[in-house]
Amino acid sequence: MRVSGAKNAALPIMCAALLTEQPLALTNVPRLMDVRTMAKLLGQMGVSVGAQADDKLEIPATTLSNPEAPYELVKTMRATVMVLGPLLARCGRARVSLPGGCAIGSRPVDQHLKGLRAMGATISVEHGYMHARTERLRGTRIVMDLVTVTGTENLMMAATLAEGTTVLENAAREPEIVDLAKCLATMGARIEGAGSDVIRIEGVRALSGARHRVMPDRIETGTFLAAAAAAGGRIRLTGVAADSLEATLEKLREAGARISAKEGLLEIEMTDRPASVSLRTAPYPGFATDMQAQFMALAAVARGTAMITETVFDNRFQHALELQRLGANIAIRGDTAVVKGVERLQGAKVMATDLRASAGLVIAGLVAQGETVVDRIYHLDRGYEALEKKLFTLGARIERVK
Ligand code: EPU
Repeated sequence: MRVSGAKNAALPIMCAALLTEQPLALTNVPRLMDVRTMAKLLGQMGVSVGAQADDKLEIPATTLSNPEAPYELVKTMRATVMVLGPLLARCGRARVSLPGGCAIGSRPVDQHLKGLRAMGATISVEHGYMHARTERLRGTRIVMDLVTVTGTENLMMAATLAEGTTVLENAAREPEIVDLAKCLATMGARIEGAGSDVIRIEGVRALSGARHRVMPDRIETGTFLAAAAAAGGRIRLTGVAADSLEATLEKLREAGARISAKEGLLEIEMTDRPASVSLRTAPYPGFATDMQAQFMALAAVARGTAMITETVFDNRFQHALELQRLGANIAIRGDTAVVKGVERLQGAKVMATDLRASAGLVIAGLVAQGETVVDRIYHLDRGYEALEKKLFTLGARIERVK
């Protein structure tokens, strides 16, 4: 089964297209609702985004008549806040809605604002909107108070066109940041250190168009591997970047899976009931919070007890209650879920609450006795390309019900 391009790399890279008048031609773009939402937002700004043909997407931000991100779009997808840095850098002004609440935690954007202000932007918040202005952003040293992925991406993009050098300290180190930096470098940006916690960006006057292939989706990859580990069997995934999911692979091995990796290929074989594995989410290279729900589903049917601690978001256990409806034995103690594995889950009707929670519920449904119906799958369509078709190809009995 072929893995798609990474959602969380494609979204910031689409925002990077705003930094130049010339077209950015992307391949390996996943066909997802979130990508369509971002394209719609860029379209509203006056950018004539081409229609996505298979995995190809061309974004020529030649005209940018309306540097705004309205509440209606920002509230459906927080990643839209990443237009703020590029808009300020290119147009010297932006009006972007504050994202508001979120199903997995409080998720403020104070670090994005702190960084842009340090670079000389004036930002006020009025009537739910961030109004930002600047003559030209100036490079400076920014120490982030905490590790934020989109915060790092927003500031890195803004800094590419700033006057002088920007140093981002305590930067996030996610592989998607490295992919964005690669794309920016092809566009002519001068960036050093992406993938480490100190990123140095020397501003240039202008960026040019480029071609870029989006990296493989490590979370989609991990989701299929976790599904195979829970259900048993052997699957082979192609088009993957195995080195971007070391922490996940290590935990799967601990659960008893045999995994082999070759250039672009990952194979997993699981013959026994999984052993329970405890884990603690953390920024990269730690265990990804975006894999936590899938591993909770795995722990639900494992031998023994797993302690699953969520340290990145403050409310990312909503799937635990739904898993309990399937017969899972889970107790939440603060930021830790204590999961006692049961021999068998039972199929039931459950409700998806966010993207990765939905993936966890689908995995649980695959191994539960009888039929499981997952409701509100629009969450899944935001971030997984044809999940049910891909799982069906791998032997799962799954279908989309209108
Ligand atoms: N935070 C702040 N202030 C800020 C920014 C973040 O307090 O200014 C806090 C957040 O509230 C959170 C923590 O910092 O507690 C980390 O959040 P981060 O900013 O890193 O998350 P994000 O950039 O909004 C990205 C992914 C998420 C993924 C997280 C963590 C994209 C588009 N989204 O979000 O992906 O969970 O990093 O790895 O890259 C998903 O794909 O399902 C998803 C939610």
